[in-house]
Amino acid sequence: MAEAPSSLVLRRPDDWHVHLRDGAMLRAVLPATARTFARAIVMPNLRPPVTSVDAALAYRSRILEALPEDIDFEPLMTAYLTDDLDPDELARGFAMGVFRAAKLYPANATTNSAAGVSDLSRISAVLRRMEAVDMPLLIHGEVTDPDVDVFDREAIFIERHLKPLRQRHPRLRIVLEHITTEESATYITEAHLSGDERIAATITPHHLHLNRNAMFIGGLRSDFYCLPVVKRECHRRALVAAATSGLPCFFLGTDSAPHPRSGKESSCGCAGIFNALHAMESYAAVFEQAGALDHLEGFASEHGPRFYGMPLNADTITLVRRDQSVPNRLIPPESARVGDDAIPDSEWPLLFHAGETLSWSVEPTVR
Ligand code: DOR
Ligand code: ZN
Repeated sequence: MAEAPSSLVLRRPDDWHVHLRDGAMLRAVLPATARTFARAIVMPNLRPPVTSVDAALAYRSRILEALPEDIDFEPLMTAYLTDDLDPDELARGFAMGVFRAAKLYPANATTNSAAGVSDLSRISAVLRRMEAVDMPLLIHGEVTDPDVDVFDREAIFIERHLKPLRQRHPRLRIVLEHITTEESATYITEAHLSGDERIAATITPHHLHLNRNAMFIGGLRSDFYCLPVVKRECHRRALVAAATSGLPCFFLGTDSAPHPRSGKESSCGCAGIFNALHAMESYAAVFEQAGALDHLEGFASEHGPRFYGMPLNADTITLVRRDQSVPNRLIPPESARVGDDAIPDSEWPLLFHAGETLSWSVEPTVR
């Protein structure tokens, strides 16, 4: 058996799904993403959501302003689809290179999605235009029908909405985001194996590590609550198999979603897991356990840019086999601890893997 490597040099990865938030939270969490990932698809579910080219340009400027000077990082902006977003505005933003994709939140499916799409029929003109200009559609794939069990919402979305949508718009480029079920993994794999290169899926670190028991160990654990909610162990295993398969239709998207502590420690805790600080170490643990470290670079650094038609990054990161214990909370940089919107100590977000020891560490990029 080959000896386990002591370090891994990887083409620098990108994060194809992240929540960077705004204001002090943006200043707090951005370095965690930017120190490792060269680019990231930035979710538009701010309050108010990013629904115009001007709003995306302004948000992009705020991100670049919050970026530490010694880090190279490119935020890739997305548009938040609503029932009445103008197809011309969307296509204009895409042609300008401001919008890289548009995000479909079914209305009320998740955090800040109240202004999302109430019915796919309301956005047929938008979807036709996206199909014509080859603009990717990023889908939060869950039905919002209250009669459907929370744990079945993703699988039913595929049957009720995704399959008909793909029949209506066969040329539309689609990413099914943060998949959580065997049904999704199978659906995407089969589409790929049948020669369809226009659909792919992102997979988060937390859905690779957790099954639904995590939310109930010793009490009600809102720190492990995210949307789509983590599922049974058989689904987690199917996701590991998909992520580590080497298939180009699966790629990295952390869905890192920080919330102030009081938002999680509540009788109605927010959905979202903040994993940006140790994301690559977290993925490496899964790939190593699956005996698939040789597929990590494809998943993290190659499949995403190829799907989006963007160049691969030229620089590298190094993962070294060195234990690190994960602290409980993010200690934000000074810039997030000052100002009118400063984050008080009590609100610093909890880290994914808090209290655990991870056996890989990302070496700081030397420039
Ligand atoms: O867990 C989640 N958190 N899922 C989402 O879809 C949204 C995100 C957030 O914005 O907090
Ligand atoms: Zn998300």
